[in-house]
Amino acid sequence: MKLPSKVNVLLLGSGGREHAFARSIAASPRLEQLYIAPGNAGTAELGTNVEIAPNNFGAIRQFVLNNHIQLVVVGPEEPLVRGIVDFFREDPELHMVPVIGPSEAGARLEGSKEFAKAFMSRHTIPTAAYRSFTRETAADAEAFLESLEPPFVLKADGLAAGKGVVIVPELNEAKSELQEMLQGKFGTASSKVVIEQFLSGIECSVFVATDGKNYKILPVAKDYKRISDGDTGLNTGGMGAVSPVPFADEAFMEKVRTRIVEPTIKGLAEEKIDYRGFLFIGLMNVSGDPYVIEYNVRMGDPETEVVLPRITSDIMGLFEGIAFGSLDRYDLTVDEQCAVTVVCVSGGYPETYRKGFPISGLHSAESRESIIFHAGTQLKEGRTLTAGGRVLAITSLGDTLRQALSRSYRTIGSIDYEAMTFRRDIGQDLQ
Ligand code: AMP
Ligand code: GLY
Repeated sequence: MKLPSKVNVLLLGSGGREHAFARSIAASPRLEQLYIAPGNAGTAELGTNVEIAPNNFGAIRQFVLNNHIQLVVVGPEEPLVRGIVDFFREDPELHMVPVIGPSEAGARLEGSKEFAKAFMSRHTIPTAAYRSFTRETAADAEAFLESLEPPFVLKADGLAAGKGVVIVPELNEAKSELQEMLQGKFGTASSKVVIEQFLSGIECSVFVATDGKNYKILPVAKDYKRISDGDTGLNTGGMGAVSPVPFADEAFMEKVRTRIVEPTIKGLAEEKIDYRGFLFIGLMNVSGDPYVIEYNVRMGDPETEVVLPRITSDIMGLFEGIAFGSLDRYDLTVDEQCAVTVVCVSGGYPETYRKGFPISGLHSAESRESIIFHAGTQLKEGRTLTAGGRVLAITSLGDTLRQALSRSYRTIGSIDYEAMTFRRDIGQDLQ
C-alpha cells in the first residue's frame, strides 16, 4: 500500500512545530493540497487554514470527507491521547485514511506517566527508579520520600499542559507538594502521583519515526526550557533548540538505539499496541549512559523547528513509510549543517501576557538568512499580530553552531513587537 502520487494533507495544530511540518510538507513534490487546522499566520502562507480545533473529531471527520483528505498528520498530543487514531480506524468512511500518530493505547506513553514507567520496567528500559501513589497510599508515599535522597521529583500521572513535574530540594516541601498534588493541584491529572529518583546529567531529545516494526532515528536536538538566560526562572514550553547535539555522539546514540529505541518498539509490538507515528524520547545523559526521563507521542516544540529543516529527503515518503509499514524502504537523508532556533515570546510568558500586538520586520533583509516559524501569531486585516505566549521561532542553519546562532540573532534584531522577549544564550553551553 502507498499514498497516491499526489496527496491532500490535513495537518492538525497551530504552533511552531506545525509551521515547521507545513514547510516540509509544502516542499514535497507529492503534495496536492495542504490544509492546517487551525494553523497560524505562518501556515497560512503555505496552505489553507481551516477553523477547526484539533480535538473536534466530528468536524475533522466532515472536513476529511468533504475535501478528499488522504493523509492526516497530528501535531499535538491531545487528539492522540483522546483517541483520534482509533476514531478514524473505527469509522467505516474514514478507516482507509492514514493518520500519523499512535493509537490511544500507544498515546498512554505520554498520557500516563505511571503507564510509561511500568512499560519501561516491563521492558528493562533504563529510567529513574520510581513508585506511584494515590490519596489512599499517601502515607506510603511519605515513607518512600524519606527513603530518597534530595532533590525530590514528583510528577502528576496525567497530562498537565507540561506543568505536572515538580522538583523540590527539601523533604518537607516534597511532602506538602505531594499533598497538594493528591488534593487536585493539577485536577484529576494528579490524583495519581509518580515519585522518582533524581537523575543528574544533561538532557537531549531523541525523535524516532516508527511504523510499528521498522524505525528511523531523526536528528537529535536539545531544547532550552527555562524562561531566562543561564537556564533560570520558570519552565516554559521551550525557548530554543539546537541540532545536532555534540555530546550525543555515535557511541552514545548506539546505546540509545540498543538500550532504549529497540526495546521500546519491540515492547509496543509485543503488547500489541498500534504505534505508527513519532516518538519523542526525553533523555538524561548520566555520565555517558542514557536514561529515559519521559516519552512523548509526538514531535517536540521547538525541537521540530531544528529537526525538520535538517531533513533533506521528502517528508511525504517518511509519512508513507510510517503509515504503510514500509519505513525500511525510506531513505532518510540529513543535512550535516547545524540548526538552531531561538523562540521569541510575549513579555510576561509563561505567566500572564498580553497579545494582539503587530509584528514588524518579518520580511527584513536580515530575515532572509533564517526561517521564521510562526507559533502564536494571527492574521488580522492584513497584519500579523501576536496571539500566544510563544510567538515566533527563528531557525537558522550554519556550518557551525556559532554561525547558525549569529544568523538567528541578527534576524531577531530586525523583528519587533511590544514586550518581545527571548533568551540570548541558546546553544552557549554547547560551544
Ligand atoms: P517533563 O515534564 O517530564 O518533561 O519533566 C520536566 C523536566 O523535569 C525534565 O525536562 C527534566 O529537566 C526534569 N526531570 C524530570 N524527571 C527528572 C528526574 N528523574 N531527574 C532529574 N530531572 C528530571
Ligand atoms: N520541547 C519539549 C516538548 O515539546 O515537550
